[in-house]
Amino acid sequence: GCAAGGGDESGGGGDDELIVGFSQVGAESGWRTANTKDIQGAFEEAGIELKFSDAQGKQENQIKAIRSYIQQQVDVIAFSPVVESGWDTVLNEAKDAGIPVVLTDRAVDSEDDTLYESFLGSDFIIEGERAGAWVLEEFADADVVNVVELQGTTGAAPANDRAQGFRDAIAGEDKFEIIASQTGDFTRAGGKQVMEAFLKSNPDIDLVYAHNDDMGLGAIEAIEAAGLVPGTDIKIVTVDAVKDGMQALADGKINFIVECSPLLGAQLVDIVTTLHDGGSVEKRIVTEETTFTQEQAIEALPDRQY
Ligand code: AHR
Repeated sequence: GCAAGGGDESGGGGDDELIVGFSQVGAESGWRTANTKDIQGAFEEAGIELKFSDAQGKQENQIKAIRSYIQQQVDVIAFSPVVESGWDTVLNEAKDAGIPVVLTDRAVDSEDDTLYESFLGSDFIIEGERAGAWVLEEFADADVVNVVELQGTTGAAPANDRAQGFRDAIAGEDKFEIIASQTGDFTRAGGKQVMEAFLKSNPDIDLVYAHNDDMGLGAIEAIEAAGLVPGTDIKIVTVDAVKDGMQALADGKINFIVECSPLLGAQLVDIVTTLHDGGSVEKRIVTEETTFTQEQAIEALPDRQY
């Protein structure tokens, strides 16, 4: 149970009664690996037990993990939803069991926002808009711009919202045409494979918009294999700013990166501790993040932890 109760002075990080169950998406990207490491590290540092499970990209695995945490009567359940829809049933089960749920990184599309206590993560629409805003500037003098898009996992909040935000930003500028758009599942291999197909059927690509660094890095391999120069012959804008992406930006192979921070661990510890102590938390906590040009990447790289 998690009642902080009268006279209980022990609340807070050191309370070994607090047990949290966390269901992670998988290990699809550098971002995800950094996110897992940061969350596990923050809980270890706080001395809070974290039960961790990896859903390997499958919603059914996540639902199973959440049910198992309910069964084990953990104090708080946190998870990063693989996709946006289809959560109402299991979230109602957690609610009926009196176990608070925290969403990290990705949203659910449930109408009933009493099904979770808080959603901690980025605003993916703004990320898409930031990519679009850079594109508007970069191609200010161009007449026609052929864009190909490498989308994230189908149905995932960051794929839906980064597609949306980007389109919103370039709407009204007729010279931009998204000539191809397909999912690369947020992986390097996926990005490479889809980009190979794009290159075969489209001789005149000006820009790749990849929903994450890893797919952009895969696209770089495909572009180079086709005898073209990434960052020059074909411009690339991505989202995340993990170390490998930042290196490619510093090297001029990627042209611009919109940051998405995976460092959610410390804030998640705060949220679950507050909930455990009977306090209330903000329904929506938006991660602070920035954008990077080549010069900024060169400057930031030496201190980049992930
Ligand atoms: O949900 C965040 C996204 O998931 C990251 O941008 C991507 O790299 C990861 O796979």
